[in-house]
Amino acid sequence: MELTAQDFANLSQYVYKKCGIVVKNEKTYLIQQRLAPIVKAEGCDSFGEFYLKLSKGHNNNLHDQVIVAITTNETSFFRDNHPFETFKKDVLPQVEKVILERKSRVPQRKGAKVRLWCAASSTGQEPYCIAMIIYEYLQTAKRKGIAVDDFEILATDISSKVLAQAIAGEFNEYEVLRGLPAVYKNKYFTKCSNGLWEIDQKIRDLVEFKRLNLMERFTMLGGFDVIFCRNVLIYFDDDAKRKILDQFFSMISDDGYLFLGATESVYGLTDKFKSVRTNSTILYKKNIK
Ligand SMILES: C[S@@+](CC[C@H](N)C(=O)[O-])C[C@H]1O[C@@H](n2cnc3c(N)ncnc32)[C@H](O)[C@@H]1O
Repeated sequence: MELTAQDFANLSQYVYKKCGIVVKNEKTYLIQQRLAPIVKAEGCDSFGEFYLKLSKGHNNNLHDQVIVAITTNETSFFRDNHPFETFKKDVLPQVEKVILERKSRVPQRKGAKVRLWCAASSTGQEPYCIAMIIYEYLQTAKRKGIAVDDFEILATDISSKVLAQAIAGEFNEYEVLRGLPAVYKNKYFTKCSNGLWEIDQKIRDLVEFKRLNLMERFTMLGGFDVIFCRNVLIYFDDDAKRKILDQFFSMISDDGYLFLGATESVYGLTDKFKSVRTNSTILYKKNIK
């Protein structure tokens, strides 16, 4: 099915408005290949006819299908590994101090909770890794005065499809082979009769999944001690990145941490964060003058 220059302009503008993703001219194939099956399923003879239907209608299901098709959900367990090592070795001990300090000030457990947010969680590998690391940390060091219910992990994504898989907590053979150490697989996963590997209920209980579009205001989610926003800013333009980072700044606690993806950075966008290097990971803290 032919995608005219006008169709590409209309549909890429639509995608940009809906989810901030910039589809560059050299990536016309993304629109063509990923949307063609939806265009056909909708009984449209051309991308032009489909765009008219999309832009006129209030068909939320159709809007959702386009978002699901256009987002790239590439992820894996312990992706890039070193950010998770840094989280375990450098961030968690600081977080532990924060919990103990808060508990000494706020007797109610709720007030002492440390909140972590995985802001583009895809099929769930990233927040589940964070949850497994927290479990390991608490067990191996036999921590005194902190427990699993001192932690809260929120995981969000715009795509309803990846969220459904994340909530189900089931992963196929290929997914568990990508980055998941055997020790974690043996300890936290069970093979089901359908051939999928199901992650333990206690790990699932630590993570709450929600649908959230980073292009909309999200400060109502409240404060966080650690935000992971990895491998999603690359899809947005500078204006959108700045708006997201500004909101993160107002949400992260003064001693909190921000993790971005390996190819992402705050440089040239904002001076509200300063980088901190630990081994091979660059992470960010608030630049408080
Ligand atoms: C490449 S994946 C990264 C997943 C994970 N953070 C990682 O590093 O492995 C990017 C995710 O961002 C999500 N995404 C794209 N645009 C978004 C938006 N406007 N709001 C929220 N999530 C978005 C996609 O659905 C996708 O699951």
